[in-house]
Amino acid sequence: MKAAADAFIARHGLPDVVIANAGISVGVLTEHAEDLDVFEAVLRTNVLGMFATFHPFVAAMRERGAGRLVGIASVAGVRGLPGGSAYSASKAAAVKYLEALRVEMRASGVQVVTIAPGYIRTPLTAVNPYKMPFILDADVAAQRFARAIKRGTSYTVIPWQMGIVARILAIAPNWLFDRVFAKAKHKPRKLPT
Ligand SMILES: NC(=O)c1ccc[n+]([C@@H]2O[C@H](COP(=O)([O-])OP(=O)(O)OC[C@H]3O[C@@H](n4cnc5c(N)ncnc54)[C@H](OP(=O)(O)O)[C@@H]3O)[C@@H](O)[C@H]2O)c1
Repeated sequence: MKAAADAFIARHGLPDVVIANAGISVGVLTEHAEDLDVFEAVLRTNVLGMFATFHPFVAAMRERGAGRLVGIASVAGVRGLPGGSAYSASKAAAVKYLEALRVEMRASGVQVVTIAPGYIRTPLTAVNPYKMPFILDADVAAQRFARAIKRGTSYTVIPWQMGIVARILAIAPNWLFDRVFAKAKHKPRKLPT
C-alpha cells in the first residue's frame, strides 16, 4: 500500500480524498477450527486494511491541513449478526477505529468520514440467502457515497431508511434482538482456497 501510495503521489500529487473501501464478508462459525483463518482474513482486510490504506497519506495531509479520509464500514457493525460474527466484529472495529482517527485528526483540518452502507447489489451480497431490505444498485450507492463525502459528515448510513433500522437495532434490548435474529439465515461459510 505504501509503495502504491508513493507512486500515486509522485505522479498526481497528494489526493484530496482517500477511500478505504476494500472489504470481504465471509460467514464463520466458532465450532469450525478452520474458520479461525477466515476470521483473521476478515479482520486483516476490513480493519487493518484501513490503517494500511490511510497511513501513507496521513502525515502529508496533516502537514497540508486539508483532506478527507473515508472509511467504508457497514450497518452489520451495529449488532453482532449470526453467522457473520467476523464481519460484524470487523465493521464494529472499523467504526471505532475511524472515530478515534477522526478525533486525532480534528485539529489538523483533515476530515474523517465514516460511511455505513446497508445492502448494495455487488458480488459481496450476491451469495446472501436472505432478504436484503432497501438494497441499492452499486451506481446509485456510489452517487450517495460521493454526496456524503462532499458534505464531510462524520457518520452516514446509506440508504437513510437503513439508518432508521440501524438506530432501532442499536437500542433494541438483547432479549428482543436475540429472539428475532436467532431465526435469521446465515451468511454462507466459504473455506479459504
Ligand atoms: N455490498 C454491500 O451490501 C455492502 C454493505 C455494507 C458495506 N459494504 C462494504 O463495502 C466495501 C466494498 O464491498 P463490495 O460490496 O463492493 O464488495 P465486492 O464487490 O466483493 O468488492 C470488494 C472489493 O474489495 C477489494 N479487496 C478485497 N480484499 C482485498 C485485499 N486484501 N486487498 C485489496 N483489495 C481487496 C476487492 O478487490 P479484488 O476485486 O481485486 O479482489 C474488491 O474491489 C466493503 O468494505 C464492504 O464490506 C458492502
